[in-house]
Amino acid sequence: MKKILFSFYLILLALATYAQSRIVQNFNDNWQFYLGDEPQAKNLNFNTNNWRTLALPHDWSIESDFKAEFPARNDGGALPGGIAWYRKAFTVDASKKDQLFYIQFDGIYKHSEVWINGQYLGKRANGYISFQYEISNYLNFGNTPNSIAVRVDNSQQPDSRWYTGSGIYRNVYLISTNKIAVANYGTFITTPKVTATEAKVNVSTEIKNAAAAKSVTVEVGIYRAGKLVTKANQSVNVNASSSTKLSQDLTITKPALWSPEQPNLYEVITRIYDGKKLIDEVKNPLGLRNFRFDADKGFYLNEQPYTLLGVCLHHDLGALGAAMNTRALERQLQIMKDMGANAIRTAHNPPAPEVLQLCDKMGFLVMDEAFDMWKKRKNKFDYHLDFEENHKQDLEDLVKRDRNHPSVFMWSIGNEIREQFDATGIPLTKELSAIVKSIDPTRPVIAALTETMPEKNFIFQSKALDVLGFNYKYFDYDSLPKRFKGYPLLASETVSALATRGVYDLADTLRLWPASSKDKYVVGGNPDFTVTAYDNVAAYWGTTHEIAWKEVKKRPFMSGTFVWTGFDYLGEPVPYPFPARSSYYGIVDLAGFPKDVYYMYQSEWTDKPVLHVLPHWNWKAGEEISVWAYYSQADEVELFVNGKSKGIKRKEDGDDLHVSWKVPFEAGSVKVVSRKGGKTVLEKEVKTAGSAYKIQLIADRNNIKADGKDLSFITAQIVDKDGNIVPDADHLINFTITGKGAIVGTDNGYQADLTSLSKPERKAFKGKALVIVKSQQNEKGNIVLKAAAEGLEGASVVVKAGK
Ligand code: GAL
Repeated sequence: MKKILFSFYLILLALATYAQSRIVQNFNDNWQFYLGDEPQAKNLNFNTNNWRTLALPHDWSIESDFKAEFPARNDGGALPGGIAWYRKAFTVDASKKDQLFYIQFDGIYKHSEVWINGQYLGKRANGYISFQYEISNYLNFGNTPNSIAVRVDNSQQPDSRWYTGSGIYRNVYLISTNKIAVANYGTFITTPKVTATEAKVNVSTEIKNAAAAKSVTVEVGIYRAGKLVTKANQSVNVNASSSTKLSQDLTITKPALWSPEQPNLYEVITRIYDGKKLIDEVKNPLGLRNFRFDADKGFYLNEQPYTLLGVCLHHDLGALGAAMNTRALERQLQIMKDMGANAIRTAHNPPAPEVLQLCDKMGFLVMDEAFDMWKKRKNKFDYHLDFEENHKQDLEDLVKRDRNHPSVFMWSIGNEIREQFDATGIPLTKELSAIVKSIDPTRPVIAALTETMPEKNFIFQSKALDVLGFNYKYFDYDSLPKRFKGYPLLASETVSALATRGVYDLADTLRLWPASSKDKYVVGGNPDFTVTAYDNVAAYWGTTHEIAWKEVKKRPFMSGTFVWTGFDYLGEPVPYPFPARSSYYGIVDLAGFPKDVYYMYQSEWTDKPVLHVLPHWNWKAGEEISVWAYYSQADEVELFVNGKSKGIKRKEDGDDLHVSWKVPFEAGSVKVVSRKGGKTVLEKEVKTAGSAYKIQLIADRNNIKADGKDLSFITAQIVDKDGNIVPDADHLINFTITGKGAIVGTDNGYQADLTSLSKPERKAFKGKALVIVKSQQNEKGNIVLKAAAEGLEGASVVVKAGK
């Protein structure tokens, strides 16, 4: 018996040593948080009794009401920065003594400093970059606890553009590996050849050996839907205390190509074996696609001409602030996908890793952007202060982290960088481009430029860019191929039109707000800080959605467009001063409700039949209303008011992007019918709403995962007796929740609403509000959300939290 027990013990021991080759443990739970500076908190035995316990990712700025006096000003979202501390206690099993340990932060905003058991690990200035520290040497094993302490300093404002959020706002992981393991970001996958018949894949692996010299086998397997497609094995000697690189070639016949329309993914699994023992395993995505830019003809994907239908996205997630949440991000991307977007620009900062994971899966090409400034500032306390010391490491880390994502197709080394205007831009561009290429020579380097005269554009003069991105200035597009001969071109930023969802000024004319650089704000804007949602107001450097899109669409040499912006974001509320605190640029508002122009894009960028009519149908008798319709997959649209035809319209000469009628208002209904070859394609009707009667709650998903992360986005609509949305309803709605969930945010998309977005109450805006409900970890069951407002019949909705 003893013998049996002993061998069992030996097996256990072997399993313990090599049980799991690499463990990536989510390290988000049970952190202690203190808002304020507490220098002693770095010490091992600091007492956190009065601190708040929370789960990461966490953004403390979003918890506040909006205020004019916060130094970030309304450009930065009118929310507070400050200094704060986070601590977490944890133990590590004694059996893991021989392992190497790392703590990985996907992003801390900003100037983070980290201590483990009182031992200083380092400082990271850049708030958008992912980084890790090795902590093996400082850990206690067994029952002795460890404590990790993080100081975050986002006190100096105004800082980066735009709202940044504050805190450990992305995921944290504790990683353990054996002493021989793939280095951090040590896998680099390239696809030297991709055709419909064959793909050649090269996988280079850097192995780190913190132990004695050894011979190991590296196996690279390519899988599709869990099934092995091909693999390669190679033995390699890894020297003691050093790194070794090897390169393996694989071939896939008849590959399933990746594209935004068909995001076919493979998985590359790299395994290291010591004899038969698996000692490390690392997974990476693989998407097989090829692309190229042509200076005359634009962009090609998988050998087909392909227009980049892109949007710029700022990193915040509306009411959740900067705190990373995969479902919130997936919802944003899905809304963009349904509109027909096929590309995302991460304006103007390194994204969370989840952005790229989702873009790989859902199908978006990503212009991965590193910087919004170099040495010259845009704001007093932005990254220009840290650039000199940090840019090399930050850029290297970004490219290493993201280079295996099929979605990533370009590296942007900067947006509207001030060095473009003087000779200092030349060496800096060369340096940054060289850093990128030293880590990934396969993707083009681009910058988003504004200077369209080559002799005045010093970033261009470096000759270190592969593709030139131009922001705005569509009137220069025709000159660009002559001025920048031979260079591929892209409209890296366009539009900057302004709108508030559901607001319609009857003066249906083109306006620039502000009118010129002489004014910071619009003169004579709307008193309630709104902007009409007819697509006819833009900042003076921009233009309407329709004009901007037409100008790109008719020029194949412009490889595509990135609209500023897909979603409204916190900060930059051009054209208004405080209380405006979030942007007006989005095609979709901050709450995720599409503005009307969403359907213009959908009609142009997708193949599905679209018909959308604006505005609402609650006006004063006799008022002359401009009725617009966006449509596609049809030849004509007929308008009916109370059943009477007001005429048939067609988008003429291939250039129109909407049709419109002017009609006097009559209460009742407005209806549009689109037809193709005489047959009805779609009908849309909007009725005059009566007085507000009740609340309706509509959940985007009634079943969510009980994982403490999953979300249901619930729309509250104020409707009349017949269910018509009341277009000006602004009742204060109180939300209460029972069961296995919590309210984590509310919003209504109104750019000047000053109530904290984390409060469980929200005034409806133009008939709508949003409430975001989150599940609880391992708490399965019903979540019941109730909405109540004075004078209205309340509502409730059930969301199930389950597997
Ligand atoms: C651009 C800039 C963006 C945003 C936009 C607003 O010039 O790159 O960050 O400010 O203007 O129109």
